[in-house]
Amino acid sequence: MKTVLYLDCCLRGEQSRTKIIANAFFDVLLKRGGFRVETVTLDNIPIAPLGRAEYEHREKLLAQGSLNDGMFDLAKQFARADIVVVAAPFWDMGIPAKLKTYFENVSVSGITFKCTEAGCNGLCRAEKTVYITTRGMDIADGSIMEQASPYLAALTKFFDIGGFDMVSAYGLDIQVDKVEQLVANAAERATKLAETL
Ligand SMILES: Cc1cc2nc3c(=O)[nH]c(=O)nc-3n(C[C@H](O)[C@H](O)[C@H](O)COP(=O)(O)O)c2cc1C
Repeated sequence: MKTVLYLDCCLRGEQSRTKIIANAFFDVLLKRGGFRVETVTLDNIPIAPLGRAEYEHREKLLAQGSLNDGMFDLAKQFARADIVVVAAPFWDMGIPAKLKTYFENVSVSGITFKCTEAGCNGLCRAEKTVYITTRGMDIADGSIMEQASPYLAALTKFFDIGGFDMVSAYGLDIQVDKVEQLVANAAERATKLAETL
């Protein structure tokens, strides 16, 4: 049984087009069997960006080797996932701040990565990050304007996760008469990807 960590950052809830694509992905994945999903709904968890107080508190715990503190639970969950699925809309040319805050909280030395004199390496076991997203503007995958997937792919590499796949639909707030089709096309690509996992 593989554990799939679902980072649900679809902040518009049931109105979210990204969520429609993610739902199609999980429908197929769960029908295949052999997967259990742990969902983290980013809008519902009490995480804060690291300010000085949070940073110093965390450094103190790490210096004491107190990795049993509850503040590290999300990082441990992330490190032991077999597949990580991120569903998030494209905001301000990148990922929503809630998602960035999540990654600040799970990037913990000794849990998701470690650094020695020889360099840094990831401690995560996931075979893959799957990133599902929709963009309002006509910004294609690979555009310089698209700064979400380069960041997520870099984190994937940093954590030593085996691969990175993206499923996107874009132009949704421009080609308004084609939204349904664009979302359906992306949902189909997402289901094909789910069949390969
Ligand atoms: C706060 C906010 C910021 C956004 N920033 C961008 C942006 O920088 N570029 C873009 O193409 N679309 C942007 N959009 C549009 C969304 O990417 C687009 O509507 C997307 O489909 C929303 O996903 P959802 O339906 O899953 O919520 C933004 C939307 C919101 C609400």
